[in-house]
Amino acid sequence: MSLTPHILILAAGKGKRMKSDLPKVLHEVLFQPMIHHVLDLASALPHSSVSVVVGHGGEEVKGACGGYPLVQFVDQKEQRGTADAVKSAETFLSKQSGSVLVLSGDVPLLRKESIQKLLDSHEKQNAVCSLVSTRLQNPKGYGRILRDSSEAVYGIREEADASESEKKIPEVNAGIYCFEIKELFNALSKVSNQNRQGEFYLTDAIEILVREKKKVIGVLFEDSEETLGINDRIALAQAEKVLQKRVNQFHMENGVTLQGSDDIWIDTHSEIASDVVIESGCRIFKSKIGGASRIEAQSRVQESVLGSRVKIKQGSVIEESKIGHETTVGPYAHLRPGSILGSQVKIGNFVEVKKSSFKDGAKASHLSYIGDAEIGKDVNLGCGFITCNYDGVKKHKTVIEDGVFVGSDSQMIAPVTLGAGSYVASGTTVTRDVPPESLVISRGKQVTKLGYAKKFLKKK
Ligand code: UD1
Ligand code: CA
Repeated sequence: MSLTPHILILAAGKGKRMKSDLPKVLHEVLFQPMIHHVLDLASALPHSSVSVVVGHGGEEVKGACGGYPLVQFVDQKEQRGTADAVKSAETFLSKQSGSVLVLSGDVPLLRKESIQKLLDSHEKQNAVCSLVSTRLQNPKGYGRILRDSSEAVYGIREEADASESEKKIPEVNAGIYCFEIKELFNALSKVSNQNRQGEFYLTDAIEILVREKKKVIGVLFEDSEETLGINDRIALAQAEKVLQKRVNQFHMENGVTLQGSDDIWIDTHSEIASDVVIESGCRIFKSKIGGASRIEAQSRVQESVLGSRVKIKQGSVIEESKIGHETTVGPYAHLRPGSILGSQVKIGNFVEVKKSSFKDGAKASHLSYIGDAEIGKDVNLGCGFITCNYDGVKKHKTVIEDGVFVGSDSQMIAPVTLGAGSYVASGTTVTRDVPPESLVISRGKQVTKLGYAKKFLKKK
């Protein structure tokens, strides 16, 4: 039987080094607050419960974790150090048996497989504490792992308290541990804050356990990118780069072409089918993209579902929308939330669509605004078409039934309906409903005065 630990995520710290009003764990790594990556990891691991210790900006952090309904929160009133953070979960955890996996809200790149190894070692070796370490070329800022002459871990020294020779130790503490719950709280009751920072260090519990002859093991992670702790904006950018590479590699292995992969940013949740081509500068998150679609340079696709063979042309923005097979959008088009396009629809350059549906084969090829509208099958909306959907107080609906042809520079003063197969002449302002199969035209009568141009200019 494998270990099913309780999971505790430390996320109460202020993150001083971020120099931010936002709690550190809410800074985004690939379009998601970094704590979501830790919660995704916790959810993917076997666990008996998941708790998050919150404090600084606690309400904000809780609010941001709404998508994880099974998570419980523990308040740490004052941020007095990592040992104190764990202690704030004592009321809950001391009633539980078995082990607790302690994760850090600011270490978002760990892989499930690596943590599974930690849990397996912990169980196999009957350890009381197993901790993750890694070797760094520049270990500055991390706690250093202290090992005795037989290579056994006997403690962790924080950067602030380390001697010059200790600072040279390349092996660092990742801040990730598996503890036997009873032994953990026993050791924590003995941790003091007699150190340079006046904090209660969770790392001191290790030394206490070793002194009490409890089994402590270090599990070395070869890939030090995984254990990157985010304390400042430089590490934040590094983390995003590491994750970007990981996600992009995954998609390329699945048959997606990324042209200029270094400048393509895809979140960890999007699904992209094979033979999709994505050009440089695109950002894609919380989306699904069907096979053989193409997303041209500098486009953004968020919270949307695209069918197969869809073409998003350069510089377009797609938000909370649905796009059917073989539909083309852009260049420089904007689908705002609630846009639902059928198959073989064409939304051309500089067209904005909001909360509107287009049935199969409908077109708005140039410079238009379509808001709160239902556009029927094979409708053609000419250049400069506008739905006047807002009267300053309320939004109103425009319905354009199947097969309607709307000439260029026409406006619909909503609420209004154009019956199926009707024809709107160019330059028409439609103010009243139009029955099916009708022609509608509203224009001032043209006056032409022969030879008058020169005379007119002279007067001016
Ligand atoms: C900690 C470790 C260090 C390790 C590093 C790895 C300690 C004393 N040091 O240092 O050995 O190399 O992580 O990344 O544990 N937190 C609370 N309440 C508090 C203080 C912190 O919840 O009172 C949370 C923070 O929000 C953060 C985590 O604990 O998510 C780690 O705290 P942080 O201050 O970043 O510790 P480091 O200095 O990075
Ligand atoms: Ca940290």
